[in-house]
Amino acid sequence: MGKVMVPNKWCRSSGDPGNDGPYRDTCLYQMDRAPISTYLDPYAPPVPTTESEHAMAKNHTTAPGIHIGIGDKDRAAIANGLSRLLADTYTLYLTTHNFHWNVTGPMFNTLHAMFMTQYTELWNAVDPIAERIRALGHAAPGSYGQFGSLATVPDAPATPPKALEMVRILVQGHEAVARTARELFPLVNEANDQPTADLLTQRLDIHEKTAWMLRSLLEE
Ligand SMILES: [Fe+2]
Repeated sequence: MGKVMVPNKWCRSSGDPGNDGPYRDTCLYQMDRAPISTYLDPYAPPVPTTESEHAMAKNHTTAPGIHIGIGDKDRAAIANGLSRLLADTYTLYLTTHNFHWNVTGPMFNTLHAMFMTQYTELWNAVDPIAERIRALGHAAPGSYGQFGSLATVPDAPATPPKALEMVRILVQGHEAVARTARELFPLVNEANDQPTADLLTQRLDIHEKTAWMLRSLLEE
């Protein structure tokens, strides 16, 4: 068997652009003559050598743009509105969980359990909202700083209020989230964005129903 110069796969080939420096010779080494496939990983992607092959390889790893039938401007505006909804939902989740921990008084059992049902529902809601933002091609906010600047729902009071004051705060919180979701509807309808419209409809139903149940505790 004769000797043949075989390209070292780590260095690609000595003919590669940018591989013509003083170490180019280290990119070739001698091996016994045999099919090159014997020495190279058969599952490795083809090594681009020409300019057009480099361009093809580059295209191969670049994600395509988003073409779902909703324009860039509309996707950005809807993602913006959903970010406010996410911030409101997360803030109301945290307040409700806070009240579950800190509620006191004769209604403790009822409210402690009711708040747990409500914060669990809110916790489960943040994920589909965030993932819809991602599907529209934008980053989902996920920090207290971002939520603080986006939310219309105020932060929970530092000192735990009385039980019925907690209920009143939560009624107002659910109504605020419902307003944020409803504000987004005209844009979503105009952009023909059915998945977001469906999500908003579900959130409106929950927030309005929860506001009614909480408000009922405050009525004679
Ligand atoms: Fe608990």
